[in-house]
Amino acid sequence: MSPVNPNPLLALLADGLFHSEAELVSASGLNAAELSRHLHEVEQWGVELESRADKGYRIPGGLSLLNTAMVHQCLSPVAAQLLTSFQLHPSIDSTNAELLRQAGQGICAGTVCVAEQQTAGRGRRGRHWVSPFGRNIYLSILWEYASGPAALEGLSLAVGVAVSRALSACSVDNVRLKWPNDVLIGDAKLGGILLELRSKPDGACQVVVGVGINVAMPEMASAAIDQTWVDIARDAEMPDRSRLLAALLNELLPMLSQYESAGFESWRDEWLALDAYASEPVVLISGDQRQEGVARGVDETGALRLETAAGIELFFGGEVSMRPVRKQ
Ligand code: BTN
Repeated sequence: MSPVNPNPLLALLADGLFHSEAELVSASGLNAAELSRHLHEVEQWGVELESRADKGYRIPGGLSLLNTAMVHQCLSPVAAQLLTSFQLHPSIDSTNAELLRQAGQGICAGTVCVAEQQTAGRGRRGRHWVSPFGRNIYLSILWEYASGPAALEGLSLAVGVAVSRALSACSVDNVRLKWPNDVLIGDAKLGGILLELRSKPDGACQVVVGVGINVAMPEMASAAIDQTWVDIARDAEMPDRSRLLAALLNELLPMLSQYESAGFESWRDEWLALDAYASEPVVLISGDQRQEGVARGVDETGALRLETAAGIELFFGGEVSMRPVRKQ
């Protein structure tokens, strides 16, 4: 069901205590050369590793790692049935990229890929998604739709609703959504959604649904974020990421499995209730084009309704981004 963590030292060092070299060797079954290679790998993931000649090694503050058994334990019966494979990587370029690579090799709907760290996390519009080790959620799910890309209209908005339900199930309140697919608290970005498609020769399509949630972003990593952001831990204890991951799967898997027949219409009212910029002046930006207007929610396909001097105009996700125009 799930790959074993290929670096056996992580779980041993996660407690934050010192472990001597002899102890690490005997508990992990590694020889001295392998031990040094795996210690080096831990450091390469950006994890602080303290070494003392008299005491051995420790990760100051410890780590709270994702736990596959805990994720499975917290899955609802429906989600457990829809989950076909669960892949947990300590470090990967991008969980979306990984599922897209596997998509051509016959993996099936319900394959889930999660990582503790992404070295080339992908954001919308070619941006980098900052993905430090062991702190946030980086989740991708593969699904397949027989009726092709037409079935996906509004899907990224429905993903946003499912994510906000999962956050609320974990007592993360006041989450709102910004069209087309930002997850906000206040005006700051808590998470992002990136859908990537692969068409199949038979007309069907595979979609990789990528979700990134800032849980406890380290100060150092946050310097690289070029937008106003927030994490869950800002006002509270760092929540258990395995439980949060299971809550996300509990909402996302059933939604993905029903989407082809239910469509966006059944998610629209909930999306409208979460709309961060309902009836607010906004500007839509696409390349060097700008269009100002008042945001008037979304239609039954998930297109943004923008009120302009010409009346209501419809805008579709893609490369468009939206910004509020706040009165001074
Ligand atoms: C955005 O720019 O708002 C979308 C961010 C999506 C990030 C997630 S993290 C898991 C998945 N893998 C990626 O490389 N990107 C998505």
